[in-house]
Amino acid sequence: MKVAIVGASGAVGQEFLRVLADRNFPLDELVLFGSERSAGRRYMFRGMEHEVKLLCHNDDFKDVDIAFTSAGAGISKEFADDITRHGAVMIDNSSAFRMDEDVPLVVPECNAADALNRPRGIIANPNCTTIMMVVALQPLENLSHIRRIHIASYQSASGAGAAAMAELQQQYKEINDGKPVTVSKFPHQLAYNVIPQIDVFQPNGYTKEEMKMFNETRKIMHSDVKCSAMCVRVSSLRAHSESVWIETERPISVEEAQKALAVAPGVTLQDDPDNLVYPMPLETAGTDDIYVGRVRKDLADDCGLTFWLSGDQIRKGAALNAVQIAEYLIKVGNVK
Ligand SMILES: NC(=O)c1ccc[n+]([C@@H]2O[C@H](COP(=O)([O-])OP(=O)(O)OC[C@H]3O[C@@H](n4cnc5c(N)ncnc54)[C@H](OP(=O)(O)O)[C@@H]3O)[C@@H](O)[C@H]2O)c1
Repeated sequence: MKVAIVGASGAVGQEFLRVLADRNFPLDELVLFGSERSAGRRYMFRGMEHEVKLLCHNDDFKDVDIAFTSAGAGISKEFADDITRHGAVMIDNSSAFRMDEDVPLVVPECNAADALNRPRGIIANPNCTTIMMVVALQPLENLSHIRRIHIASYQSASGAGAAAMAELQQQYKEINDGKPVTVSKFPHQLAYNVIPQIDVFQPNGYTKEEMKMFNETRKIMHSDVKCSAMCVRVSSLRAHSESVWIETERPISVEEAQKALAVAPGVTLQDDPDNLVYPMPLETAGTDDIYVGRVRKDLADDCGLTFWLSGDQIRKGAALNAVQIAEYLIKVGNVK
């Protein structure tokens, strides 16, 4: 099994190295790719140094079985043919192909088998905020069809990449040192602030990130559900959180929902408000599951339920989800 990581130096790329090692992924050979910025850099994996190669239009992917790509949508589009033409499965973290009809969009807890039908050899990893939400929604959908979702996200700096994470830390330092604040990765200063904008605005007033949640949720869950999102950048460093309201076809009780969430794959129920126990990004950072708490009836809707979730979007929202897709393909014997 030969595995490639494209974008190895990035926030997601670095997490791939950790996730593959943590899960003892069955690979024999690992190759890393990047731009001229990181080409030549060396990263440790299983006690051995691996040098980043420059990503080029050539036959470097000839013997690759699985390629995890996380170098942005433009690079994924530009290199998809080079990566897949010899038979490698490309599991792509960018938004490049997510809504293409001939590319499955997969969260293993919801629709693992969709990964088997990939005419172009590409499987898309959904948007991180959407992955985290659907992992928690699937067990509730299994109880009663979800008709509507309202969601407000609280997304950490790292969602915008490694340099954005560094910029937030730099901003706090600059403020402490009484220096002008550097703003380049976010539309405004993020330190001591919240920004109600993630990605660019669309003609309907929603951002691209918010429309991803609408469209991708339907594709993953094979559902006609309508999802109205407000995505907000907050100054946590790592792990996203979400406040979610759902309306189901029949009313679901809090106890019923908690019971389903407690046994759902990929979910940890952390719901004990009397003891101040609920999920928080400081604690969910670096972990695998989506943590769910504050499960309540919606006071404004008899068929409504509301809850809070938090999870590491670089892990389950990106690298871990992609590796779980690969593990599923290996388990069912569906790689090259
Ligand atoms: N961060 C998250 O929470 C998250 C979650 C889900 C999905 N994603 C998606 O994953 C992708 C990567 O995000 P990230 O947060 O890891 O970004 P990042 O930290 O900015 O890393 C970007 C990576 O892309 C590589 N790259 C850029 N231009 C390249 C080129 N011409 N050829 C080869 N490699 C190139 C960079 O390599 P160099 O250092 O060599 O330039 C770097 O390794 C994006 O599509 C993003 O939307 C991110």
